[in-house]
Parts: sequence; C-alpha cells; structure tokens
Amino acid sequence: MEELFRRVAFEAAIKAGNITASMLEKPREVHQKGPRDIVTDADFAAEKAIIETITSWFPEHSICSEEKPFHQGNSPYTWYIDPLDGTTNYFHRLPIFCTSVALAERGEVILGVVYEPINKRLFWAEKGHGAYLNDKPLRVSAISSLEDSLLGLDLPRLQALRVEFGATLQKLIETVGTIRAVGSAVLGLCFVAAGWLEAYLHLSLKPWDLAAGALIVEEAGGKVTQLGGKPWTIEAKALLASNGLLHEQFLRILENFTGS
Ligand code: IPD
Ligand code: CA
Ligand code: CA
Repeated sequence: MEELFRRVAFEAAIKAGNITASMLEKPREVHQKGPRDIVTDADFAAEKAIIETITSWFPEHSICSEEKPFHQGNSPYTWYIDPLDGTTNYFHRLPIFCTSVALAERGEVILGVVYEPINKRLFWAEKGHGAYLNDKPLRVSAISSLEDSLLGLDLPRLQALRVEFGATLQKLIETVGTIRAVGSAVLGLCFVAAGWLEAYLHLSLKPWDLAAGALIVEEAGGKVTQLGGKPWTIEAKALLASNGLLHEQFLRILENFTGS
C-alpha cells in the first residue's frame, strides 16, 4: 500500500507542478482572499488535477486542500494539499514555488511529497524511511554556529503579528549569519532538509503548508518544533525547523516571542 500511496502522491504533485509551470508566463486571473493573500487560476487548476488523481485511487480518503472545503471521507487517511505554495512569488513571476502533498494516517503524517517544477526537484519522505531529493538521500547541514547560519523565514500576513515580531527579528538579525525570505514555506522546509538552510521559521502556517515539509525535515535528520519547543502537530501555526544542532539556540532567541 505504501508504494501505491507514494506513486499516487508523486503523480499528483508532478501533474500539478507541470500545470503551474506551464501557466507561469501566461496572463492570469487573480482573486484577493484576504489582506496580503491572493489566489490565481493556476492554484485552482493545479488543485483540480491533484484531487482528481487522488480521488480516482482513494475515493474514501479525506481531503484537506487549501482552496476547497474539507472533504470528510470514511477512512483513517487524510491528504493535505497545497496545490501552489508561493502564490505571491508566482504572481510576480518569481519562479520559486512548489506543490505539496502529504498523507496522514489518524493525524500522523506518513508521507510528504513536494514538487518544484522549475528545477524538476521532487523532495519526498516516508515516515521512518528517510528523505530524498529525486533519488538522492537528503541530510541536514552540519553547521553548528549561529553566526555561520543561513536562516530562512517568511513574514506573517497579519499586521499585528508582524509588528510584534519586530523585536525578535532584530535579535535574529544581530545573531545569525544572514537571513533569506523564501516566499514558499514548503520550500523553506525542504531547503533545511537539503542542508541549504540551517533553519526555517514561520509564525502562521496552515496544515497544508507544513505537513509534507515537516516530515521531510525530520526524515533528513533535522528537528521541527513549535516555538516553545513542543513537538509539531499538523495544527501548529508557528514552527521552527532546523538542522537540530542549532535548534536550542534558535529557541532561546525566540523564547520571549508570544505571538500566535
Ligand atoms: C504561503 C507561502 C508563504 C507564507 C504564507 C503561506 P501560499 O502559502 O508559503 O511563504 O509566508 O504564510 O500562506 O498562499 O503561497 O500557498
Ligand atoms: Ca501555502
Ligand atoms: Ca497555496
């Protein structure tokens, strides 16, 4: 069964990624979902392809997909789908975006698949079986000094949370090597798994933003927790993912930040 889950997730993510990549340069429809939050026709086209693929194999599974109401199935399995992560980048035609597909069994993520179509990169992991970039095993970085570290993050949309984060951001700026805003939380997590970032921080994620990426980081030997150090869950909003070596040091910098 695991092999079928994986094959279907690969097929769904790659189909969706190819759709978004093929629409990147075309004129598009854009709708505002909320403050600093947009959705394009490419998000919807990618979502349709993923859901059709998954439901054709597993019609009884539940589906939690960003642009659709939750579909309650009749099985212990739920798919968490972000058809296009990095929509703001995509809207600006900045080619840093991906598709994320994760499968949870009774709330525990057992499979994560992320496809970055521009570079044809397939990041994936199965619980207990390691993480891979295409067919190459992934391993987090070995950097253990904050001042040599590259920290990825993205800003929350809410104004109040941004303002509150200011003091913590100041401390991070003074401590780390440097910072990159990725524009795709899912890719930020995959970049930690690949050892390209030492850590990735986000304050307001949704289940489809984190499910696949958090598993991929852990299976690459990294650590993922909530900001207080509690284990991550699919419902967690604020998350720190790291190579493990720097985790406690980052948590200490974040310890006075209470935003949620
Ligand atoms: C967003 C991206 C972004 C993060 C936002 C997410 P979307 O997802 O991951 O980097 O800062 O919080 O909502 O809307 O592009 O799927
Ligand atoms: Ca997202
Ligand atoms: Ca999305």
